[in-house]
Amino acid sequence: MSRSILVTGSGGQIGTVLVKKLREKYGNDNVIATDLRELDLAGPQEILDVTDVARLEELIVKYKVDEVYHLAALLSSKGEQNINLTWKINFEAYKAILELAVKYKIDKVFFPSTIGIYGSTTPKQDTPQHSVFEPETIYGISKFTGELWSEYYRNRYNLDVRSLRFPGVISHEVIPSGGTTDFSVEMFYAALQTGHYQCYLEADTMLPMIYMDDTIKAIMDLMAAPEEDISLSLGYNLSGFSVTPLQLYNEIVKRIPGFTISYDPDDRQKIADSWSETIDDSRARSDWQWKPDYDLKNTVDVMLANIKVS
Ligand code: SER
Repeated sequence: MSRSILVTGSGGQIGTVLVKKLREKYGNDNVIATDLRELDLAGPQEILDVTDVARLEELIVKYKVDEVYHLAALLSSKGEQNINLTWKINFEAYKAILELAVKYKIDKVFFPSTIGIYGSTTPKQDTPQHSVFEPETIYGISKFTGELWSEYYRNRYNLDVRSLRFPGVISHEVIPSGGTTDFSVEMFYAALQTGHYQCYLEADTMLPMIYMDDTIKAIMDLMAAPEEDISLSLGYNLSGFSVTPLQLYNEIVKRIPGFTISYDPDDRQKIADSWSETIDDSRARSDWQWKPDYDLKNTVDVMLANIKVS
């Protein structure tokens, strides 16, 4: 069946890879990549500021969209620098998408949530699917509110919304920015480019991570699962593996002898300390058979094999 899929934030860390995969699956012309800036991509693309609801509606009508992936977002650290804009992009634009989805009978919506919805009062180990959620950043607040609206729209309007709580995403295609988990990508580039990394978190700060291929697999599998297998529109807990900066460093230095690290924690430490260390993603495993392929070791191997430094 031909689908018309609209992706916001297509130039971001996940969007760049997801648009490629969606186009492989559904055909170039059926995936409309949108972003604030022009992208170096073949296939349909449109400039879109997601806070411009009229433009969003115009594109949904123009392309007769039947699936939306709202990837545009400000992440945890950058979000704290502009809380109003974060709320607008992460939540208000998403709320507009939900309204337009009902108005234009859009089939399916994907909403990326995050480990940022957890806070200091959430159990840190094996964080359950349903738990205490008192996020301490505007990023977490906007994403958790988005999750609640997703569930509300599913119950009230029968809208098929699907969502994942992403851990830090490790990838070699695009370097993430503005997040608290960015060290997990920056460290690889530092190892290859300068031989030294100054980490903005303490050595023993454990955080959940996921490799990009698993991230894309999770999104595609979740969105392709039969509707009756999806038991919630809140974000599904999701995890690849958990790691500290020191553990990641130890794996990299085994492969790049001489690589050094120092630690100089900044504001991001407080954010990281409020998040979970390990995640119980059994609901995703039982509902739609989620299972990661990448652990720490093969993530480090594939990252070092693929990063191109000039
Ligand atoms: N990568 C995100 C961040 O660090 C977490 O979802 O903000």
